[in-house]
Amino acid sequence: MRLLIIGTMRGPLATAAQIAMARGATIANAETAQQGLSVLRLRGADLLLIDIHQPIHDIVDAMRDDRISTPIIACGIDPSPDEAAAAIRAGAREFLPLPPDPELIAAILEAVTTQKHDIIWRDPAMEKTIRMAEAVAKSDASVLITGESGTGKEVIARLIHKNSKRAAKPFVSVNCAAIPDTLLESELFGHEKGAFTGASHRRIGKFEEAHGGTLLLDEISEMDIRLQAKLLRAIQERVIDRIGGTKSVPVDLRILATSNRTLPAAVAAGDFRKDLYFRLNVVSIRIPSLRERPQDILPLAHHFISHFSMLNDIPERKMTADAKRKLLAAPWRGNVRELENIIHRAVLLADGTEISPEAITIDDDPQLYRQKDIAARAIDSAESITRALVGKSVSDVEQGLILDTLDHCLGNRTQAARILGISIRTLRNKLNDYAARGIEISDGQKPSQMIA
Ligand SMILES: Nc1ncnc2c1ncn2[C@@H]1O[C@H](COP(=O)(O)OP(=O)(O)OP(=O)(O)O)[C@@H](O)[C@H]1O
Ligand SMILES: [Mg+2]
Repeated sequence: MRLLIIGTMRGPLATAAQIAMARGATIANAETAQQGLSVLRLRGADLLLIDIHQPIHDIVDAMRDDRISTPIIACGIDPSPDEAAAAIRAGAREFLPLPPDPELIAAILEAVTTQKHDIIWRDPAMEKTIRMAEAVAKSDASVLITGESGTGKEVIARLIHKNSKRAAKPFVSVNCAAIPDTLLESELFGHEKGAFTGASHRRIGKFEEAHGGTLLLDEISEMDIRLQAKLLRAIQERVIDRIGGTKSVPVDLRILATSNRTLPAAVAAGDFRKDLYFRLNVVSIRIPSLRERPQDILPLAHHFISHFSMLNDIPERKMTADAKRKLLAAPWRGNVRELENIIHRAVLLADGTEISPEAITIDDDPQLYRQKDIAARAIDSAESITRALVGKSVSDVEQGLILDTLDHCLGNRTQAARILGISIRTLRNKLNDYAARGIEISDGQKPSQMIA
């Protein structure tokens, strides 16, 4: 996690930086907004921490012009409620009061990088897949990771990076399906000053951010065919061209790609370049569906029970024998992600000392299997919504995200705030605000778990 701090590094801000560093973040500091923006354009960052006395509004505007969507946390000493609210209005996702509370910083860092990276498996079919991923990790070959939706393609991509000689360098992931075609080129390759209206400065893309490390091109089958040509050149010649640039830039990275569409079929349909397919498919790893590895079901379920119980401050409950039988008999068309969602719900719904079959609600609606889990959706939204929903106001988008997340958490505000990466207080204020405007708010089904 690369944290860029904009503001003078002394006193409580320096303490915040130290805490973040102790939690594994890499820190860059810029004294002024201008310096901060150039670091952002030239090196990129995963999260911005901005002192409230900096012109946050201008920074947000400049970032929008340069199509940079790094999340922002504003911070300040003893802020008035007005100051904190103004920072949020200007575009900050959260306000961090200084002096910093170590737990709060940890929670914020975690909210921005909430992806869980543990890999759980027991089934021999998965054992084979993991061994293969570890073996190919050592080479520098491109790897195409395929598998049904929710099987763990991203999890395997991270495993490959972690076991490669590039492990100490960045792992950067781009979801080709979530970013509109018009913005994806800039996201991948960056742009030069003046490349298009609003491009007031040079901005580097994900290829350059991942320099030395690994670039994951997620859902690559969704990439526009014209952009595929540029990608092919980048992979073949190891150079990229920023939009509007006159000079190619060398890049040294490893490419991983995922797809849940069959790429040969996309090639046959003329949607995917054959030469690019061969380039990416040097090694391919197919992740078996959960149905093909039944021995993984219960170990995964136990893992998710611990995870969600801890996240919700709920005592960890065991499953009854009937509950286990129900899990083992389910069709799992949504694979591990569906199992994760179902256990998440079961953990929130279960009362009593054990998780009974009634708490395990397996949906038969195939649409649902395609849904991402709540956390992934919240993160994806945070990353792509500002780009995908151009034309909507930030507060409309934020309202939608907050209400959706609350809905998915069955009205549990603690959980929703955690997923959204905002404090309960912020969430409560926003909900009060919506309620005052007559908007209906999910009350949840289990009032005893609500804090606010
Ligand atoms: N073996 C595993 N152990 C623990 N968690 C896992 C495992 N496999 C997948 N998960 C979890 O399941 C969810 C889905 O995994 P992931 O995002 O890697 O799937 P995917 O194949 O990329 O899905 P999609 O096709 O929808 O992008 C994630 O929350 C991930 O943490
Ligand atoms: Mg994925």
